Order: sequence, then C-alpha cells, then structure tokens
Amino acid sequence: MTNQYRTQTSHSAEYFGGTRDYWWNIDFLGLIADRLSFKQIGSVLDVGCGVGHWGQLLARLLPQDPRLDGVDRDPHWVEQATARAAARGLGHRCSYSVSTAERLRFEDASFDLVTCQTLLIHVADPAAVVAEMTRVVRPGGLVLASEPNNISSALVLNSVSSGRLPDDILAAARLQLLCERGKAALGEGNNSIGDLVPGLLAASGLVDVRVYLNDKTNPLIPPYDTAEQRAMLEEWSDMKSRDFWIWSRDDTYRFFLAGGGREDEFDRLWATVTAQGDELTKAVADRSYWGPGASIQYLVAGRRA
Ligand SMILES: C[S@@+](CC[C@H](N)C(=O)[O-])C[C@H]1O[C@@H](n2cnc3c(N)ncnc32)[C@H](O)[C@@H]1O
Repeated sequence: MTNQYRTQTSHSAEYFGGTRDYWWNIDFLGLIADRLSFKQIGSVLDVGCGVGHWGQLLARLLPQDPRLDGVDRDPHWVEQATARAAARGLGHRCSYSVSTAERLRFEDASFDLVTCQTLLIHVADPAAVVAEMTRVVRPGGLVLASEPNNISSALVLNSVSSGRLPDDILAAARLQLLCERGKAALGEGNNSIGDLVPGLLAASGLVDVRVYLNDKTNPLIPPYDTAEQRAMLEEWSDMKSRDFWIWSRDDTYRFFLAGGGREDEFDRLWATVTAQGDELTKAVADRSYWGPGASIQYLVAGRRA
C-alpha cells in the first residue's frame, strides 16, 4: 500500500497515502449518521475534497440517490477525486470541480449537507470558510466539519517516548506548538483548529452545535502485520526518507521563526526531533516499539436555522 500521491507537488500530497483509509470506524460514523439524520439528506458538498476520501466515505452512510459534489482549489486533486470515485463505482453520483472554499461556486442554500475534513487546518481565515459553507447549506441543513487538534499528539506517549526525559518530550512539544502558531500567523492554517470549530460554527449562526470525537485510534503493536499498520509504517518511512518531521526542515524553520522561536535554538530542536525519529525507526526495526496511535479528531455539526 504505497502513497500513490507522494511524488505530486501539491502541499497536501504526503497526507494522501494509505493511512487515510483507516481514519474512521465505519460503525461509529453510522452512529453519527443516525444521530444527525443522514437519511433525510439528498445533496452533499465536500469542500476541500482532495482525492475524495471523506465525501466518498460518507456516501456509504447516505441514502442511495444523493448527489455528491466535491470542490478543491487544486485541479489536480479534482481530477484524482473524479477517477477515484469512478474506480469505486460512485462515478454516477459524484461531480468534482475546482473552487476555492472562500468563494464557493454554488448558489445560496444549494445543499442538505456541506462538509469538510482537514480543510480548515489549511486555510488563512477559517471563519470566512465556515461562513461560506453556511451560505450554501439550505435552511434546516447540516454543516459537518472533521478537523483535528494535532498538538495533543505531542503528549501521547509510546514504548519509546515514555522513557524520555520530560525536557526532551517538552522540547518536541514546544517546537510543534511554536510551529503551529507560526504557520497560522503566516496564513497557512492552524493545525489544531479543531478546538475552535464549535465556536466558529456557532458564530456563523448555526444552531444545535454538536461536538463528537472520532473513536478510532491507530495502534502500532508488534508484529505490525495488519494492512493498517503496514500503511502507517510506509508513511513513516516515506516521510523519513524525505527528511520530514511533521513538515520539511525548511517549512519547520519558517514556521518556528514566525511563531516566535529564536533562530539560535532551531538547530538544536531540529536535531532533537530528528534523533527522536531515528530512535522510533530503530525501535520499530527491533520490534520494541508499541503505541496507542491516539489523536484528537473532532466531528462538529451545526444546523442552519
Ligand atoms: C489535507 S487535504 C484533505 C482532503 C480531504 N478533505 C480528505 O479528507 O481526504 C486538504 C485539501 O484542501 C484543499 N484546500 C486547501 N485550501 C483550500 C481552499 N482555500 N479552497 C479549496 N480547497 C483547499 C487542498 O488542495 C487539499 O486537497
């Protein structure tokens, strides 16, 4: 299960690998579909659709006939989403096109469900995007956003990191937090925007705002022999081979400075997280790594009055 999108240049390419297929338990999403009355939905818009993972997953929980539109600002992903839908027998239901989330190419009140997943973490002005999603949902319709708090993962420990000195754990968390702050300040998105999404939905006038947490984790436990675990290890080694931590070294440096980090600290912090990555790679190789793979992924819903 390789990352077929790895060599493509768009900024999200590295996150379209096989692991994205294991983000959700389908029965959990079925429960959410019941709670939010998906059976009444006749039309869906997936904003920032990428190659279509999220909308096409939700399509499994919707009645048979709803139309599924998807938009992305990047024509390359629109093409890939169209091909992926066809390959999954969803071609007749799905229509993908180019549009920015800040200015959706649809009339007011066009859809029963307007949704996004890991889109708001990428945008400069998430409130403006939520307002636009609210504009195109019909009265009584649903806005549903699946967005993470990524900084929390810095304190989810595993068999290797639980033995580290507190200062080393905190050094990596501090680097990540400063970078998240800097990235947001540069207008490149807040990687932990999920915390703020319930308030953003309420501020855009949506009512009955509900907040759920994805119940799925991605544990990695020897002998790492499931398809899900193999996909995770492939993604790790893919990122390592490109000298990625969470971001490339250049982006990490840019974000760190923009977040208020001191230039003379950077090399030491980068060396710390690189050494920590090497330690994990070695522990996986000798089967001494195990961890819960927990993260915070919110599912936030609101209705247009
Ligand atoms: C991390 S991917 C998520 C893709 C998809 N929602 C999923 O869950 O698999 C983010 C996507 O949002 C798109 N994107 C980022 N900013 C955008 C914007 N302002 N307008 C439209 N699309 C945007 C990117 O091109 C990328 O495909």
